[in-house]
Amino acid sequence: MRKKLIAANWKMYKTPSEALSFVEAFLPLVAGHTRDEIVLFPSITSLATVISRVRGTNVAAGAQTMHWANEGAYTGHTSPVMLTTLGATHVLIGHSENRQYDNETDERINLKVKAAISHGLTPLLCIGEQLDERESGKTEDVLASQLAGALAGFPKEHADKLVVAYEPVWAIGTGLTATPEIAEETHVIVRNHMAQHLGDTANEIRILYGGSVKPENSRSLLEQPNIDGALVGGASLKADSFAAIVKY
Ligand code: PGA
Repeated sequence: MRKKLIAANWKMYKTPSEALSFVEAFLPLVAGHTRDEIVLFPSITSLATVISRVRGTNVAAGAQTMHWANEGAYTGHTSPVMLTTLGATHVLIGHSENRQYDNETDERINLKVKAAISHGLTPLLCIGEQLDERESGKTEDVLASQLAGALAGFPKEHADKLVVAYEPVWAIGTGLTATPEIAEETHVIVRNHMAQHLGDTANEIRILYGGSVKPENSRSLLEQPNIDGALVGGASLKADSFAAIVKY
């Protein structure tokens, strides 16, 4: 059984005090909820605040990206060591916004995924096709190539630690959600390609869906057998809305 993971991607929203207010309101709403794993991804300036408040609860926290090196002359970046020292347990890698705006290439994503694993951080590897790619029938090729790039040389014995987030780019922040059928069908494709790289362990890897997940559609998506959680942007910014998704 794959325990579902429901994650909040706050992107570039919330100051530390706003993040703390969210956590204060959110924790009572999900107290005792152990059916699913819950992870918050605040911006880097709020991460320490969030981690110290969720410590010892059923909620974990991680970073939205990181560098792969332990340290070095990389102005503006954060290393895996810095994250683990802070108490972060998870890290988003290869979000489509980073691929689009921050020159996040498959090669860099590959280094980051492997660095996360070697530091004991759970990587949430994000993949997804653009609208024109879906419309021209290239979805499977795009996902296969993103997976091949990200997973080159990935240590198979750690495959169960990997989490993948399938986020069709056309569904992110647009209000357009993939139907549960389209999402399920695509998750099966993703799982089959992961099996090519990682063998049978692919059955243990959680594949989250992301892209306009909200309280109204979370249940129909999360009921699908190959949808093992959700990566939620806009609808995760309010405690009651994110709690409703967690308790779909
Ligand atoms: P959204 O974002 O829920 O606002 O579509 C999801 C994401 O980018 O992870």
